[in-house]
Amino acid sequence: MDIKITKVAPEKMKPKPTDESKLGFGQIFTDHFFIVEYETGKGWYNASIEPYRPLILDPAVMCLHYGQLIFEGMKAYRGKDGSVYLFRPGENIKRMNESAVRLCMQPVDEDLFMDALVKLVTVEKEWIPRGIGTSLYIRPTMIATETALGVHPSNKYLFYIIAGPVGAYYPEGFSPTKIYVSEEYVRAVRGGVGYCKAAGNYAASLYASQKASDLGYTQVLWLDAIEMKYVEEVGTSNIFFLIGDELITPPLTGSILPGVTRDSIIRLAKDWKINISERQLSMDEILDAYTDGTLKDCFASGTAAIVSPVGQIYYKGREYVINDGKTGELTERLYNEILQIQYGEKEDPFGWRVKISD
Ligand SMILES: Cc1ncc(COP(=O)(O)O)c(C=O)c1O
Repeated sequence: MDIKITKVAPEKMKPKPTDESKLGFGQIFTDHFFIVEYETGKGWYNASIEPYRPLILDPAVMCLHYGQLIFEGMKAYRGKDGSVYLFRPGENIKRMNESAVRLCMQPVDEDLFMDALVKLVTVEKEWIPRGIGTSLYIRPTMIATETALGVHPSNKYLFYIIAGPVGAYYPEGFSPTKIYVSEEYVRAVRGGVGYCKAAGNYAASLYASQKASDLGYTQVLWLDAIEMKYVEEVGTSNIFFLIGDELITPPLTGSILPGVTRDSIIRLAKDWKINISERQLSMDEILDAYTDGTLKDCFASGTAAIVSPVGQIYYKGREYVINDGKTGELTERLYNEILQIQYGEKEDPFGWRVKISD
């Protein structure tokens, strides 16, 4: 399908931020967005890149009532020589379509999705910040737009992609986080939609996150919803523990988001001959490892920060400090490796980088 491109008139372009240290996250959006419509019987139609604008929605559209709303999160990176890269975009496309299937929404043709990403990032190239760690955050989103009440899969959808420059996650170096193990609230349960990037998962996480934040913690460590025993994810990231010489991350059993960064870490760890396991890990095992001194490192993984060191865990009324509250060696090594691959500063043995422009 052709994508019609309508550019904003130069005099209507938004001013681009000049201070990259003040970009933050999710506050600034570029001049254009991609949008395509779907209707049962007609398929996807009217693909365009056009000036960024509000969506006009009937108050009865189904996404506003029954929550058929999914999204993705990915970034475009600018290398030192000005080249622009995406990192494993095919994985985000695949995950978005898996979310679509689970929520009875319409998968998007993979070639159209990729074409839309490349064209939008190319149109917005000047918005991509230059500093290492900064990037253009990309947010593909799909919403149900049939105007109807009554619970059923919508017959109409909008798929759109917005983007905006974001700052470096660690402008002053790593800052290990304090995490709070939630014993009362869960994020997702096996058989549910935890493995999808469905908006409802994030709404469900807010209450516990807010409580943890009120107590001075950065994130919630979610346990499995059935036995409340095994670790699952942390905040909106996947989680890894280094116990002895075994790097452990929970398996993908349906309640955990299959992170692109998680998968990249597993592939790198295998390549580096690290003993990596995707297996259930209970809080009891973590506490035993803490007691006998074999709990060496812990970090969260995700597109936002790549890896985020965990310095402290709160569980059942006690604080457990990991690696003296400092960033572990493995966390740092993984961070540097992935960062350098993303920014074109290192060889890319796995073919993860997709170059969009010179
Ligand atoms: C719930 C959840 N888990 C894990 C991740 C990490 O996924 P990725 O590495 O693809 O960013 C995210 C972020 O997208 C998330 O929202």
